[in-house]
Amino acid sequence: MFNLILFGPPGSGKGTQSEKLIVKYHLKHLSTGVLLRSEINGQTPLGIEAKKFMDKGQLVPDEVVIGMISSALDTYSDVKGFLFDGFPRTSGQAEALDKLLELKKAPISVMIALEVTEEELVKRLLKRGQTSGRTDDDNDTVIRARIVEYNKKTAPVADHYMKADKVVMVKGEGSVEEIFTALSKELDSRLNANA
Ligand code: AP5
Ligand code: MG
Repeated sequence: MFNLILFGPPGSGKGTQSEKLIVKYHLKHLSTGVLLRSEINGQTPLGIEAKKFMDKGQLVPDEVVIGMISSALDTYSDVKGFLFDGFPRTSGQAEALDKLLELKKAPISVMIALEVTEEELVKRLLKRGQTSGRTDDDNDTVIRARIVEYNKKTAPVADHYMKADKVVMVKGEGSVEEIFTALSKELDSRLNANA
């Protein structure tokens, strides 16, 4: 299995690039943000609870997202690999993911971290907020709160994988195609090394 974490702050392009990468590399896309928004749309108890955190730009509790990922890993047991987008986002989530993948004997192959300046992140998210209907995109205060939460709780997750020498940084500014080419280059070199 080839398991990839696409890492980066809110608005860095994880979702945009994931859509392209899963097609090219035949990976199963697992985005906790997408899964949570589908729970919200379905007005499930989990969704109603999660929305309270998401609307404030805060992370939802670890046990909620770990449970969602754990059941997704069971559901899609015969895929070529997973692309994790927006997960893990805390050290606790990273440890839980490592354990779940250990059971499958399929550890994380690489973490690719998209680097984008804060100014560009805010610009992208405010622009999307004009049309997306995402309540966490349409105001500057919530966007800033998401970035603060990222710097405090999520950025340390990269250190976790850095210790295992699994992190690659890629510039997340430029055209979507340019970034996709840079990501593909990194993945191709790793896939060839494994072949
Ligand atoms: P989540 O849905 O994961 O959102 P996020 O990480 O805050 O950020 P986005 O998904 O908005 O950004 P992205 O990096 O995917 O960029 P995108 O491609 O969309 O999480 C939402 C909330 O759910 C969290 O705040 C939290 O509450 C909760 N949550 C989710 N996972 C959790 C977890 N594991 N633990 C706890 N809580 C969790 O692009 C952004 C915009 O930029 C788009 O409009 C796009 O068109 C544009 N864009 C993309 N690339 C470019 C480019 N190269 N140039 C210009 N514009 C671009
Ligand atoms: Mg996203």
